[in-house]
Parts: sequence; C-alpha cells; structure tokens
Amino acid sequence: MAIFLDTGKIDEIRKYHSMGIITGVTTNPTIMLRSGVKGGMAGVRKRSVEIANLIAPHPLSVEVTTNDPAGMIKQAVELSGWAKNIVVKIPIHGPNGELDNLTVVRELEKKRNVRVNVTAMMSAQQCFLAAMAGATYVSIFAGRVNNMGYSSVEEIRKARKLIDDFGLKSKIIAGSTREVLNITEWLLAGAHIVTAVPELVHGMIVHPYSKETVRQFLEDAGKI
Ligand code: E4P
Repeated sequence: MAIFLDTGKIDEIRKYHSMGIITGVTTNPTIMLRSGVKGGMAGVRKRSVEIANLIAPHPLSVEVTTNDPAGMIKQAVELSGWAKNIVVKIPIHGPNGELDNLTVVRELEKKRNVRVNVTAMMSAQQCFLAAMAGATYVSIFAGRVNNMGYSSVEEIRKARKLIDDFGLKSKIIAGSTREVLNITEWLLAGAHIVTAVPELVHGMIVHPYSKETVRQFLEDAGKI
C-alpha cells in the first residue's frame, strides 16, 4: 500500500499502475462523473469492472448512491459482487447527520462479507468510530480539513494513534489531495495510504532540475 489513485480515468490508472507505484484506486460519484462515466449504474458498473480488472488484486473503492439504510446494504452487496477487489464506500453519516450508516457498515463487514471504506470524514474522531464499527478503510478528506482551517496532519496523527492504541484493523486513507506535498506529508503523519489525483503523482516524479540534468547528459553523450 501507500499510494492509491483518486480517479476513474482508465488511461491515468494504466499509466501509473504499469510503473508499479499505485496499489489501489478510489472513486466516488463526482469522480466518476468527471471521468466521463455516463449511463447511470450500468455505466458505473462498466467502468468499475474495467478498473477492477486492470488493477486486480489491488482494491477499487466504489461508492453507494443511496442514503436509505436498506438500499445501501442491497447496493453494497451488489457493487461488491462486480469484482473480488471492490471495496464499497459508505459515507460516515447522511446529508442531515442521519446515524444509520455505521450500523450499515457493521452489518456489511460482520455479516455480509463486504469490505467497507467509510468516507467523507473530516476528523480523527469520525475515523476512530468508523474503525470501531469494523471498517476496513477509513477515509479522511484531508485537503478539505485544511480548507476548513485546521490541521489535516494533526487529525491524521490522532486517528493513527487511536487506531494503533486500540488494536483496530482499519487502514487510514487520506484523500482530497490539493498539493504534491500532501502525499508524503500525510504518509509521514500516519496515513497508511494517500489517494492522490494523477496530476499530483506526476508532480512527484517530474522535477525541472532533473529535466535539465537529463537534457545535459543527452547533449554531452552526443558530443563524445
Ligand atoms: C477520497 O476517497 C475522495 O474520493 C476524494 O479524495 C475527495 O476529494 P475532493 O475533496 O477533492 O472531492
């Protein structure tokens, strides 16, 4: 683990997967829409199966599209049946703070054999409780945390300490990347995984001075 790609774009996933530097992919409905997915759930299924097959056995997170508890369970079982490596994203709570979601997470993990990524979290406290409920992954939207004016690094550090101290199995995914720096910064803070947008993985690799250095070597090689 370490770096997942936060996209639904096949070309980007293929590029970084072939380098061996990504070990998973995360999506959500917004990402699917921005990645050109159309045709409702049939379109989501087609793209998800394509990504899951491309990166197998690494995990692909796909999010439920309903807020109804029974509907979430039914849909999660269906999504996880699309491919063996699909993990289902369940938001920490509903749009009005409805509390059914952690019960759904527990049921999926303990009784339905579905691996869950609890998503849309903004604090260590939320991550801790999602981990207590049995989530395989807990996703903190660290870029949004910074945007709200408090420290993503501190929240990640606290979440990791709580998870380790209480012997919980959950892996922390830090997402919502905004800067190249976020990736190593959040891993060093204690995230097991950072899910990064492709542009920022590109930014980790390509350095202007490396370009200049390689250019010089090639030019001098031609003069020998
Ligand atoms: C993580 O799992 C989410 O898909 C994602 O990182 C959210 O990022 P955003 O804040 O840019 O929407």
